[in-house]
Amino acid sequence: MPELSVPSPQFRESFLQAVREMQAEGGGGLASSRDWDVVEIAADFDAFLKQLRRLEPPAELPEGWVHASEFWLIEGDAYLGRSSLRHTLTPRLREFGGHIGYEIRPSAQRQGHGKTLLRLTLERARGLGLDRVLITCDTDNLGSRGVIEGNGGVLEGEFVLDSHPKPTRRYWIAL
Ligand SMILES: CC(C)(COP(=O)(O)OP(=O)(O)OC[C@H]1O[C@@H](n2cnc3c(N)ncnc32)[C@H](O)[C@@H]1OP(=O)(O)O)[C@@H](O)C(=O)NCCC(=O)NCCS
Repeated sequence: MPELSVPSPQFRESFLQAVREMQAEGGGGLASSRDWDVVEIAADFDAFLKQLRRLEPPAELPEGWVHASEFWLIEGDAYLGRSSLRHTLTPRLREFGGHIGYEIRPSAQRQGHGKTLLRLTLERARGLGLDRVLITCDTDNLGSRGVIEGNGGVLEGEFVLDSHPKPTRRYWIAL
């Protein structure tokens, strides 16, 4: 059964393979994954993990940032995907981004892992004391809509933002 883990060197090889896979697909993935340099990550994996987890408490936050936790969905030694859980919203996140972002590596998509990843991340959000979370996605992202709706997401509405090229949906999930 897939489970959540903190990002760990144990999954190094599988994680690097997943990043190559995501980048070979050209597109998809969270913004940060698209920009990662695999050679740089492989050269100092510990430094990469530290950077990935730089917003986790008790980190001191740069101006305008909120605490966020990083989770990896793993099965055995295989990396399947990841989620970020923002502990609170800023006005910007309230508009776009919400509490949770996630991605599943291409070779593991459409097997229910996205729904599992969000379900397990929602448990962590409940553990933080949140009573509801906001999740946003592009209206044309049918996979993400399926993940959110499969976890009880209630649509707040569909919005067009000056800062984003596509219509965006905002969903709330009660915890
Ligand atoms: C969105 C994403 C996480 C979905 O992951 P996944 O593991 O494929 O999702 P699941 O297998 O749990 O599928 C959830 C539902 O969406 C449907 N679905 C998944 N991908 C789909 C697609 N490309 N088109 C249509 N429906 C899709 C599934 O059939 C399933 O529907 P069901 O509940 O009726 O069975 C994955 O496609 C991804 O990582 N995309 C790139 C990053 C991204 O968009 N992240 C979200 C940002 S808001």
